[in-house]
Amino acid sequence: MKIIKARDYDDMSLKAAAIVASVVTLKPDAVLGLATGSSPIGLYKVLIDKCRKGELDFSQITTANLDEYVGLGPEDDQSYRYFMNHNLFDHINIDKSRTFVPNGLAKDPDAEVRRYEELVRSLPEMELQLLGLGVDGHIGFNEPAPVFPEVTNCVELDPSTIEANKRFFASADDVPRKAFTMGIGTIMRAKRILMVVNGEAKADILYKVVNGPVDPMVPASILRFHRDVTIVADEAALSKF
Ligand code: F6R
Repeated sequence: MKIIKARDYDDMSLKAAAIVASVVTLKPDAVLGLATGSSPIGLYKVLIDKCRKGELDFSQITTANLDEYVGLGPEDDQSYRYFMNHNLFDHINIDKSRTFVPNGLAKDPDAEVRRYEELVRSLPEMELQLLGLGVDGHIGFNEPAPVFPEVTNCVELDPSTIEANKRFFASADDVPRKAFTMGIGTIMRAKRILMVVNGEAKADILYKVVNGPVDPMVPASILRFHRDVTIVADEAALSKF
């Protein structure tokens, strides 16, 4: 694992965006795996800025997002499809028909997880998978569990995730209880992984991810078995090292 230390959130966003930008420049038709949440928002802003200045071209890029809340549609401002449109896709020259997010409104969750897994597998190998880190060690919405979930699945969110994500909703009761997420195996197939982590609240878990045992109770610890992982973290997130 390569760890790049950033001063703060803005510096983390700049450094991580430089990595994404290099992938887009070197392979203009790359498939990128994308994440939502507060961690990548700054990085997305930098990419938007570079695209506006003509420094980056997303016209041939394909994206697949990690996850989506069950029950929320694209028009719901808490859905991850809405998040991606609002924070990135609406502001860059990407062909939206090549941006994939699980369908939160799917009537049959089992069919939806199969459909999404097959879709991701049908794409060319992912050049880069972007990840945030949950306070409980989750990646995507793969929560601590006795085993690492392999393929796209429908999960019950952990109480600590509901607590962490309630800031985006009117109350904790409004946070959906279930989500679709790429599996750990799906994530691990990416050629390269980039994880962005900031803030003191993530310091303990980041330390465990990097230094503790590889354990499905700390889902992100599996990344230690991946051949090409870069973590860009700010000083606060690295304060336990
Ligand atoms: C989001 C996702 C989650 C987040 C994680 C951290 O698509 O897959 O794993 O990356 O919950 O969220 P933030 O960045 O809001 O702290």
